Amino acid sequence: MAAARARVLACALLAAAVGAPAAQPAAVAAPWARSCSSVDTAGDALAGIDLAGRVLVYTGADGSLASASTLELARANASLILACRRASKCAAVLQSLASRSGTSAALEAEALDLSSAASIRAFASRVTTRHKRIDVLVNSAGSYDTSPTEDGLVGAMQVNLLGPALLTELLLPALRGHGRVVNVAAAAYGTRLAANTTAADLAALCTSVDPRLNRTGGYFALSKFLMVHHAVELARREPTVAAVALAPGVAFRLPDVPNWAKYAVMHFPYPDWVLQQFPAELQKFIKVCSTNEARLRSCPETQEQGAAVIVAAAAWPEVESHSGVYLDFETKQLPDGAPNVYGPWTQSDPTCMPRRPGAMDPRLRSDWYDEMLRLMGSGSSTHHGPGARGADSGRRGGSAHNFVV
Ligand SMILES: *[C@@H]1O[C@H](CO)[C@@H](O)[C@H](O)[C@H]1NC(C)=O
Ligand SMILES: *[C@@H]1O[C@H](CO)[C@@H](O)[C@H](O)[C@H]1NC(C)=O
Ligand SMILES: *[C@@H]1O[C@H](CO)[C@@H](O)[C@H](O)[C@H]1NC(C)=O
Repeated sequence: MAAARARVLACALLAAAVGAPAAQPAAVAAPWARSCSSVDTAGDALAGIDLAGRVLVYTGADGSLASASTLELARANASLILACRRASKCAAVLQSLASRSGTSAALEAEALDLSSAASIRAFASRVTTRHKRIDVLVNSAGSYDTSPTEDGLVGAMQVNLLGPALLTELLLPALRGHGRVVNVAAAAYGTRLAANTTAADLAALCTSVDPRLNRTGGYFALSKFLMVHHAVELARREPTVAAVALAPGVAFRLPDVPNWAKYAVMHFPYPDWVLQQFPAELQKFIKVCSTNEARLRSCPETQEQGAAVIVAAAAWPEVESHSGVYLDFETKQLPDGAPNVYGPWTQSDPTCMPRRPGAMDPRLRSDWYDEMLRLMGSGSSTHHGPGARGADSGRRGGSAHNFVV
């Protein structure tokens, strides 16, 4: 019964209206002075920046983009607390990082399973016992797997969004006054919430799998869209913590070819019969690089290039005075029916720049922030003040709408 209700709500929730990223009031104080091109690497983005004495917590540290980011952060003298689902993976990353970066700053490896609230609490408690002060939390771990977690929540939603929301909350005392939170999201343009969506509707998508959203891969995009808005809400609630979200672009482990040669290979007008001889993954990237990312100088980006925007968000001083921004390439709408892989939008250089994310109602954003913590067994989200759109208003049916991710 709960599952059926969630399904009905989910259909009503995510409308297909896909267009240019909707306008959102952007309160930006001073101009943002820098940017990166898709050909710039994480090393380029950190040129001249010394992170000695800074303590960074990096989740999902065994990921390939994460490895490219943490290597350059270590080279810039940052102290890193590497968090991986399995301790053994983190130990291996730590060893490789220590030998490749040549850093003398402290490196630590810690197990953190974001699919377990207990693991998140234990991690936060170990880390804050040793470090009263944390400078940066990078929420980078991500998953496409929607199977249920030990807390009974949809996997991708807990690992990508709800777990990081709890972790952020638990680390806030060590971040307040100086720190920043970096949410590694994705270009989730095209994820639109229906205007009447409530926090209870979103919660229902987390407590049982919506088959349709699951089938289209929509859970990943929804979790990343909501990660962007978690950073926006965090910026609003925590004036002494800088919060920033970003989309790293399409990065791939590539042979070491010059950018011009890669450009020629990716943009050659292959006849279909030739294209079909290529491995499926390469075919997909050729399509992405001639549609969604057609206007990037480097597509797909190498891991070192994709990591540039992550380390920029983690280390550039600009972020302090632009809390709540979302960093991405410039995004424009594609014409109706234009071929694409990720949705009807196309991006061009530069990145590491504040961009407008897809819109979310500020009231819903705030309600949802509390609801996420409640779902993770924390927080004080039980209040529903006068006029609040809480659980009572969430139980509504509605006609089915398509959604696109
Ligand atoms: C890292 O620290 C060392 C020693 O203090 C210093 O010489 C070096 O310039 C620093 N590296 C960066 C990238 O700032
Ligand atoms: C969700 O999708 C995955 C991958 O397609 C599938 O294996 C799984 O059974 C689906 N889960 C549900 C509850 O439909
Ligand atoms: C929610 O909005 C959709 C349109 O986006 C509409 O079709 C649906 O009926 C609405 N549901 C309720 C309960 O108002």
